[in-house]
Formats: sequence, structure tokens, C-alpha cells
Amino acid sequence: KISDELQAMLDAHELLRKFYHHLLVNTKEGQHALEYLLGRGFTHESIEKFQIGYSLNSWDFVYKFLTKRDFSPEWMEKAGLIIKREKDGTYFDRFRDRIMFPIFNRNGNTIAFSGRTLGADEPKYLNSPETAIFNKSKILYNYNLAKPSIKKSQQAVLFEGFADVIAADRAGIENGIATMGTSLTDDHIALLRTSAQIITICYDSDKAGIEAAFRAGNHLNDAGFQIKVALMPDGMDPDEYIKKNSPEKFRGEVIGASLTWMAFKILYFRRGKNLQNEGDRLAYIEQIVKEISKLTKAVEKDHYLRQIAAEFSLSLDSLKQQEQQIYFAEK
Ligand code: GTP
Ligand code: MN
Ligand code: MN
Ligand code: MN
Ligand code: MN
Repeated sequence: KISDELQAMLDAHELLRKFYHHLLVNTKEGQHALEYLLGRGFTHESIEKFQIGYSLNSWDFVYKFLTKRDFSPEWMEKAGLIIKREKDGTYFDRFRDRIMFPIFNRNGNTIAFSGRTLGADEPKYLNSPETAIFNKSKILYNYNLAKPSIKKSQQAVLFEGFADVIAADRAGIENGIATMGTSLTDDHIALLRTSAQIITICYDSDKAGIEAAFRAGNHLNDAGFQIKVALMPDGMDPDEYIKKNSPEKFRGEVIGASLTWMAFKILYFRRGKNLQNEGDRLAYIEQIVKEISKLTKAVEKDHYLRQIAAEFSLSLDSLKQQEQQIYFAEK
């Protein structure tokens, strides 16, 4: 049994989730927010499924809403829903005039919110702080809904943002998850290990996203997962791609065309190098052969060594020799 304080935190989140959602879908105050979401390609169906809401443009709506229902302001502050002013000890609402994404734990309880601005102000996404019920390094967005589909397929698709998870769901990909804007932690990996063997990383195809994909891929690879990496053209993210193209194209040409982890690294290490330059080219080949030497399956090694040999007009024998030298030197 949990304490009265924790129960009150959960109850307040539950009440607010419902109220924020009501404001978005049924009220005049939420109309501009609903129009914003529909304009971005969110559907009524996904707004329901993900229980998206809207927080009013008010400094004390939540404070009044909760205290009227006998929630203690001290506890609600600890829950991250309101903030205490240093100077006079009064409280104000954390989330104001934002699109509200409820964050659910594995039991489906709302334990936090992430609020997106409708305009250009910073931060773009405002998250609940760490609280007794919310630890962002342990939470994967949408894991509660995605888990059956992840278990069944033994695969999960890891996205960078909430909007991507929701757009992918609309496109028929129900095993999508995302971190809360942080890098992947050991706790996230431990959670995924209970339900999946294959992780498709589908981060934004911009510089930051590709570098984050490389880090997440290494982390997951070290943990024994099979990795795939899905890329989009022109620095796009999945939600932009789906809006611009179609669900079918996203499933077929992005998710369906995912690269193996090795094929991704072959592209990744090429960035910023001029392969017409002999020094760069030799350094690149050495780097790739070193990566190939880490593969465990002989057939895979052979496949990628042949690919590199063909691309750079090298003899397969010399590449194989170099691979063996590196392999034994690293052992
Ligand atoms: P949209 O612009 O709504 O499509 O969001 P996005 O998911 O494309 O955002 P972006 O690629 O910039 O960031 C990816 C994820 O990082 C978001 O989903 C958030 O979880 C997180 N993030 C982005 N901006 C902020 C921020 O200002 N503060 C925090 N705490 N997290 C952020
Ligand atoms: Mn509803
Ligand atoms: Mn991004
Ligand atoms: Mn993005
Ligand atoms: Mn986006």
C-alpha cells in the first residue's frame, strides 16, 4: 500500500489529465490548441488514444482546481504541478497555455506531463520535474500501450520525440517508444530487455539525431540487442516525414528499409571525410575494418569486407588479412 501523499499525487495527475483533455477537445479555450494539433496532422483518434490535453493560459487555474478539491499545496508542489514563489510563499501553475502530453507508467497511471508550447517560446517541451512518482531515466513514453505489440514481435522502434511516436502509431506502428528527451539509460535498457530483442532506432535524421542514434546504438549493441537504424532524407524527423509523405511510405521506405547496425556505421564514419583524399580514405577503411572485426558471424564479416573491397577496388585477401590482424590485436 502506498502513502497518502503518493496516492494524492497520482489522484491529482489523473484528475488533471482528464481535465486538460476536456479543455482541448470540448472547450472554446482549447480550440486554438486543437486546431494547432489537427494542422500538424494529429487525428482525433490519436488525441484520444494518447489522452492529449491543453493547459489554460492562467497562473492559478491548477492551484485553485486542486485546492478546491482538498489537495494539499505542499504535496502538489512536490508532485511538480505547481511552483512556490520564493518571496511570498504563494503558488503558481507550472504548465500554462501548453499542449499537454500525459506520461503514463507501466500500470497506466499518469505520473507526469510534458507540455509543448504552441508558439516559439522556450523551452519547447516543459517536463514535470523528477518526483517521488516520476523518474525520467526509467520511463519510456508509450511503453504502457506499446508493450503487447513489442512482446509479440520482440521488436521496438525507438523514436526521439513524442510527436514521432504518435505519428508512427497513426501510420500503423504500434511498438514505438521514446525517452523523455534524454539519452538512453541502463534502466531503459533493462526495461526493453524484458520484451524485445530487436530495436529499430528511428531518430531525427539531422546531425544531432544521427549522433544520438550512434550513441544509443552502441549502448544497445553492448547490451546484446540486434540494432537497426531507420533514416529519412533531408534532416527530417518521422512526424514531418509521415505528414509530408504517407503512412505506407514511412512503413516501407523508412522502417522497412532500416539499415543493419554495421551498414549504419559504414555511413556514419563517412561523415565529414573526403574519401577522394588518400589519407582520409585509408583512415576510413581502417576504421571500418576495425568495426567489421567486432562482428561475431563469419558470413557477416565476409559480406561487409566484400562490400568495402568492391567500393574501394581493394583485394579481398588484403582486407581479410587486415581484419585478422586487428581482430587478434584487439583480443
Ligand atoms: P515537435 O517540434 O513538436 O515535432 O517535437 P520534436 O519531437 O520534433 O522535438 P525535437 O526533435 O526538437 O526534440 C526531441 C525530443 O526532445 C522532444 O520530444 C522532447 O522530449 C525533447 N525536447 C525537445 N525540446 C526540449 C526542451 O526544450 N526541453 C526539454 N526538457 N526537452 C525537449
Ligand atoms: Mn476523450
Ligand atoms: Mn530532434
Ligand atoms: Mn524532432
Ligand atoms: Mn517533430
